[in-house]
Amino acid sequence: MLGQTYRKQLLEQMTLREKAAELSQLWGENPDGTLMGLRHGFQKSTHLMDHAGSFLGFNGAELVLEAQRLHMEANTHHIPLLFMTDVIHGYKTIFPSVLGIGTTWDPALAEEMASVAAAEAAVSGVHVTFSPMADLVRDARWGRVTESTGEDPYLNSLFTAAFTRGYQGDGIDKPLHIASCVKHFAGYGAAEGGRDYDSTQIGDYSLYNDYLPAFSSAIDAGCELLMPGFNALNGMPCTCNRTLLQDILRDDLQFKGIVISDCTAIWELVPHGVCADNAEAAKRSFEAGIDIEMVSSTFYENLEKLVESGDISIEQIDAAVERILLLKDKMGLFENPYKDADPEKEKELHLCAAHRALARKAVAESAVLLKNDHQVLPLQEGEKIALIGPLSDSRELIDVWGLVNGEEKDCVTIREGLADQDILCVPGCHQWNLREIDAVHPSDDALMAEALQAAASCDKIVLALGEHPAMSSEAGSRSDLSLPANQLELLRALSCTGKPIITILISGRPLLVKEIADLSDAVLMAWFPGTEGGNGIADLLTGRCSPSGRLTMSFPRTTGQVPIYYNHLPTGRPNDTDKYESFKNGYIDIYPGPLYPFGYGLTYTEFDYSPVRLSTDQVICQDDTSAEPLLEASVTVTNTGTHEGTETVQLYLQDVAGTYSRPVRMLKGFRKVMLAPGENTVVTFPITADLLKYYIPGRGLTLEAGLFRVFIGSDAETSNKNEFTLTI
Ligand code: BGC
Repeated sequence: MLGQTYRKQLLEQMTLREKAAELSQLWGENPDGTLMGLRHGFQKSTHLMDHAGSFLGFNGAELVLEAQRLHMEANTHHIPLLFMTDVIHGYKTIFPSVLGIGTTWDPALAEEMASVAAAEAAVSGVHVTFSPMADLVRDARWGRVTESTGEDPYLNSLFTAAFTRGYQGDGIDKPLHIASCVKHFAGYGAAEGGRDYDSTQIGDYSLYNDYLPAFSSAIDAGCELLMPGFNALNGMPCTCNRTLLQDILRDDLQFKGIVISDCTAIWELVPHGVCADNAEAAKRSFEAGIDIEMVSSTFYENLEKLVESGDISIEQIDAAVERILLLKDKMGLFENPYKDADPEKEKELHLCAAHRALARKAVAESAVLLKNDHQVLPLQEGEKIALIGPLSDSRELIDVWGLVNGEEKDCVTIREGLADQDILCVPGCHQWNLREIDAVHPSDDALMAEALQAAASCDKIVLALGEHPAMSSEAGSRSDLSLPANQLELLRALSCTGKPIITILISGRPLLVKEIADLSDAVLMAWFPGTEGGNGIADLLTGRCSPSGRLTMSFPRTTGQVPIYYNHLPTGRPNDTDKYESFKNGYIDIYPGPLYPFGYGLTYTEFDYSPVRLSTDQVICQDDTSAEPLLEASVTVTNTGTHEGTETVQLYLQDVAGTYSRPVRMLKGFRKVMLAPGENTVVTFPITADLLKYYIPGRGLTLEAGLFRVFIGSDAETSNKNEFTLTI
């Protein structure tokens, strides 16, 4: 690190135009697919290219080495470029989609994954990743739920901190680490109707209690950058939302790092209807607190004029440039602009055996077993399997964000994974159209006949169904959460054969699985499992690993139920029955609860819980800033089945009467315990004042006296409870 004096000198030497370029991020790719800068710009360089502060999506060790070398020569002050890209759940070795990382309930694994991803990206010249995504998600129609760890603020917070630590390690100057950018600040996941880019309306109470904690946690873990959402929050686009980017982000959350706009989001302030033209968009977004403009060029085109006219102060420009120079300095780029970029290391690290092994472990930990009747799983030795369905031989096992840098050709298919574990698969049928999402479609008699023939000669059917990667992620919203109709038709036909059916679902979101579960004997939700998908899934099917994944989004019964989430507020007219009741909360036509709740997931064994024990039921808190536990809650968990298995023991609290209405349950702790058949263990949760506090508008984080319920069990619907009274 060269230090503040060096950076100050640089700042003094830079012209205003150069500063505006430093605040601009160029897209590495030209619209015709050629790379900007290297093939065009660095030979025919422009002022903007020579002085731009960063590039998006321009990576690969050789390209970066060359581009950085040319840039350092062309840039008047020899300021190195930052190379940024989306390393979301792996770089070349692709791990399960983020929703699948969430269902591992294993932040330590997420940290390890992020550190592997950082290493693979760093040797390809990447300096910054746009991850983690901290968006809370409650509506599976929104395609970007695949990028979130789910609907719970507590769990999401553990994961955003883990991702950040994994990427940044002990310091971003250290080898094989990169800087992390948390996104999309804030509330983007609450897009109306689940439509991407749509407006969000979130009051302060929910913003602070539900949507901000995961951002705050990444910031506390040292996250260097932050990206505002595309959405308008309460009528004000986040990109020019001063309250959000100053009062909340800088003052309340104490964020000191760089704020980078989302891709072309500053241009989008015009169609958002808050700016008349690009000049106004530059002014409003810069004033609100954006430091770097991604891809659009309004800063470069307008900031000089805006300073000259007195609309923007030079001090504010300098503060933004200084933040960027500081990041470059912290990474050691002034001393070594190439950092870890190294073609030889790429060969050594990308998709290496250790990285693949971790990815395989992550797949086995992330898949959620939704149903397993008559112990149809695990498969038994010698059983003849018909592997059928569009995803049985497919390498389309990576979601869209994984494909930014990862490649399908590197994926292990489910058939390959099973073959590797000597599972005998009769030839199956796999040519079904994954992209078919219309209710009406031409059925394919030949394919159906082939599938039925395969089924006839087998002991069990393994049916791999799901979504195409393009059906989720950004701009991947759906109005109907059903499987494509032709796949359901295939399942229906196979169910008539009477053969046991094990359905594997590959998907970027919770789907409507009622009919699928009814027609299948077992259902394994495998998300987009990534490069080692086939191996990790086979590990579970064969029993080499025992399923332990738990849902982090509630599974609805119909699309009409979304948004659906376990930690909702009570109403004045709760319905505690499972039937419709007049003038009570719910629907006339359907049970309002989820098909599968948050926290749910089966294993190959069974667990028994003792009643919840509390160290006291009368708690007095004299110092609400103390980290000492106020009480302890514990249970004894016993493996009552015949297999070894991992149970995820979950602690939920309910604040029965607060100043504000409090959620019916809130996850506040969990432990994963591995038990042999017959074995038991005591799981104890310390309950601190912090776990009981919540944000009250105007008062901040507050501890309130009163009755609290403590639930401990295997999902959010557990009835195993006790209670205590808090006096303060
Ligand atoms: C997405 C961001 C992403 C950026 C850069 C945008 O469209 O919303 O999440 O980081 O592109 O690729």
